[in-house]
Amino acid sequence: MESKTSTFSERYGPWALVLGASEGVGSAFVEALAAEGLNVVLVSRRQGPLEEVASNVKAGYGIETRVVAMDLSLADAMQTLCAQVDDLDIGFLVNCAGGDTGNEDFLDRDLAADEAMLFRNCTLLMRVCHYFGGKMVARGRGGIVNMSSGAAVAGTPGLATYAGSKAFDLLFSEALWGELKPKGVDVICLMLADTDTPMLRRQMMMRGKIASLDEAPKGATPSHVVAEEGLRYIDKGPTRVVSSKLRIGSRIMGALGRNRAVAIMTVAANKIMGDKKGVAD
Ligand SMILES: NC(=O)c1ccc[n+]([C@@H]2O[C@H](COP(=O)([O-])OP(=O)(O)OC[C@H]3O[C@@H](n4cnc5c(N)ncnc54)[C@H](OP(=O)(O)O)[C@@H]3O)[C@@H](O)[C@H]2O)c1
Repeated sequence: MESKTSTFSERYGPWALVLGASEGVGSAFVEALAAEGLNVVLVSRRQGPLEEVASNVKAGYGIETRVVAMDLSLADAMQTLCAQVDDLDIGFLVNCAGGDTGNEDFLDRDLAADEAMLFRNCTLLMRVCHYFGGKMVARGRGGIVNMSSGAAVAGTPGLATYAGSKAFDLLFSEALWGELKPKGVDVICLMLADTDTPMLRRQMMMRGKIASLDEAPKGATPSHVVAEEGLRYIDKGPTRVVSSKLRIGSRIMGALGRNRAVAIMTVAANKIMGDKKGVAD
């Protein structure tokens, strides 16, 4: 990635906090931020993969890292996180932990798991934006990146709670952009279509859509492209759609009735997941 080092790190450094940093889009952000000279706090549940990402960027870019292994869906996650990072001057926040591994009808799902996802994707995201956003406003600079999804464009059968949480992330981030921009803090929401991450590969392999985890899903956006766009467009919020097919698709769906939009989302999800859910009339 082409470096914009001094201006980027002066505006958003010295530390970045990446939630969901052990793989996929989150680890791509860790690398992109390290390349810009920011020190990075890496958060997710698995210590081993976090340590591996951290040691790679430390060796590659000579930055400092801190690893925090914790579950962001627990009720006391905010307190746990603050206790681990409160001594650091955090100028950049990336909320990546937000995927859904299932694709079942709502009534067949484990409600407790959906509630944990909702907490992680919405309540915890709101809390970190409130806490770190407040600190950024106090110092007059900073950046926040949140992830939404094509699933937020219209209700997606099989992903009811996830789609709802991503619609929250989108509208919440856009409103936050409007409030924080005049106070010197940039906010952007990235809307992703299918993106090549280990999570997507695991799901597609389970459904027989790819033969092995080494196979890149056809047409999926590479994770590093998401991170590069996030950093490139950070001051051009409120929203960046990181996929030309999603840009076109969401425009078309915006012009349709909501029932037609849900039908299109059903077909799109079936295509990615290899499922055969019925299309609503
Ligand atoms: N991949 C796609 O096709 C796609 C499409 C649209 C939108 N998005 C959005 O892009 C973002 C990143 O997606 P992704 O595909 O990289 O996968 P993801 O499964 O959302 O994120 C993976 C990262 O989050 C961490 N994580 C998950 N649950 C956690 C928890 N409870 N506590 C702490 N860490 C947790 C994982 O590490 P651990 O397992 O170590 O905890 C991993 O580092 C998500 O917000 C997703 O909604 C992705």
